[in-house]
Amino acid sequence: MERCGVHKGFTLWFTGMSGAGKSTISHLLEQRLRALGAKVEVLDGDVVRTHLSKALGFSKEDRDENIRRIGFVCELLSRNGVIAIAAAISPYRAVREEVRARIPNFVEVYVECPIEVLAERDVKGLYKRALTGEIPQFTGVSDPYEPPIAPHVTVHSAQEKPEESAERIWATLEHLGLVSFDRSALAHQRI
Ligand code: ADX
Repeated sequence: MERCGVHKGFTLWFTGMSGAGKSTISHLLEQRLRALGAKVEVLDGDVVRTHLSKALGFSKEDRDENIRRIGFVCELLSRNGVIAIAAAISPYRAVREEVRARIPNFVEVYVECPIEVLAERDVKGLYKRALTGEIPQFTGVSDPYEPPIAPHVTVHSAQEKPEESAERIWATLEHLGLVSFDRSALAHQRI
């Protein structure tokens, strides 16, 4: 632990619309933390929904249940010294606040991206289908997304590269005292 400069477990919670870059940025941070010797686990919405939340749909009730489950696992991990990274849309503010209040060392990251850019990128082809009504209750199109009011950090994925966003999030973690960065290691490892 001394070498990596990561002193305790914490939860890094990404929220933002589908395709905004939550998974990409979270995996960059995962790699960076692992390279420094930390134990890290990423709970990605798309993956969690194939296991822990398999039977859940996209109603408000099911999304809230999904977030509570992810939050529960993050709490277990982070209180045991593991860094838990959650990357789910988590569109509803109230349940995000609930999870935030329950987990010590909880850091909220808002990955902001305008809907026009997301629909244009449409990496998974879902926005096109949502806009024609083929996928109902799609976040940002036909279902709400409530942006956080006081996230610890907001990154703008339409304007910055994932690496830049990861860098700013890292700076926030440093500022919060959750990682203390040995910059001399950077020169050698090129992380
Ligand atoms: S959350 O709302 O419960 O937090 P989660 O992050 O787990 O959502 O899952 C979102 C992913 O499910 C999206 O990235 C997309 O691939 C897929 N998806 C399928 N249907 C929908 C929908 N109606 N709204 C949003 N995402 C959907």
